[in-house]
Amino acid sequence: MTERHNWQEFFDAHAPIYEENVFTKNTLAEVDFLLEELSLPTGGSVLDVGCGTGRHAVELARRGYAVTGLDLSAQMLCQAARAAQSAGARVEWVHADATRFSLPDRYDAAVCLCEGACGLLGLADDSLQQPLAILGNISRSLKPEAGVVMTVLNAAAMIRRYSDADVASGRFDPLTLVESYDYPPREGRPPVRVRERAFVGTELVLLCRLAGLTVLHLWGGTAGNWGRRPLALDEMEIMVVARKTSEPLAADSA
Ligand SMILES: C[S@@+](CC[C@H](N)C(=O)[O-])C[C@H]1O[C@@H](n2cnc3c(N)ncnc32)[C@H](O)[C@@H]1O
Repeated sequence: MTERHNWQEFFDAHAPIYEENVFTKNTLAEVDFLLEELSLPTGGSVLDVGCGTGRHAVELARRGYAVTGLDLSAQMLCQAARAAQSAGARVEWVHADATRFSLPDRYDAAVCLCEGACGLLGLADDSLQQPLAILGNISRSLKPEAGVVMTVLNAAAMIRRYSDADVASGRFDPLTLVESYDYPPREGRPPVRVRERAFVGTELVLLCRLAGLTVLHLWGGTAGNWGRRPLALDEMEIMVVARKTSEPLAADSA
């Protein structure tokens, strides 16, 4: 990877304390949930996009699956590799940008959890092209009929948090559903400019369709509180459960 991505900068600094976040504390139950939804063959292959510190990837590998964990942040991957070593789990780690990475027809399933890449925009990223490129690359990497579970930010909650003053100041764009702000200094580092976008259900269905994925369910999927339940307006994340039903339609790779 050449130029440094703002989210890489953010997560490199955040990596040592990422797992102190309360939303990371439900990993075992989340992996149970994923396995129920993904119908994987024994020992099947799973791509974890934006795997972070590898909490799902390592647990899936521990349960006998062949896992690839992909992430933009070298420091998140370092933590992940350490966790795999302590768990005695074998995971293939890939340091790459999910908008530019695919391994065609290789995986029985993919996960992209807790905004693992999808909607975490680089400063120059187009708000439609970025998720479309990621979904296209996920789809390309999957075998036919393979399952996908992803969680992304819920636009309803984001819209309800902001005011017209936030729109006027450029903090929130209601047309692209992108919020932009300087993440306050921490871990001794300067502030990091970040842009992240939220999604509505109909757009997720359409983006998935362009990527060759058919959406089976849209549920409330806030990290630490997954469930097969309707999305509440103020919950932070939407869960998408989908299946690969065709090849990506759009020329979407960045
Ligand atoms: C909030 S963390 C989620 C980590 C993990 N999936 C989890 O559930 O805890 C988001 C992760 O996505 C990674 N990420 C952000 N943009 C990415 C991109 N374009 N390609 C690959 N990884 C990306 C970040 O480095 C970070 O590790």
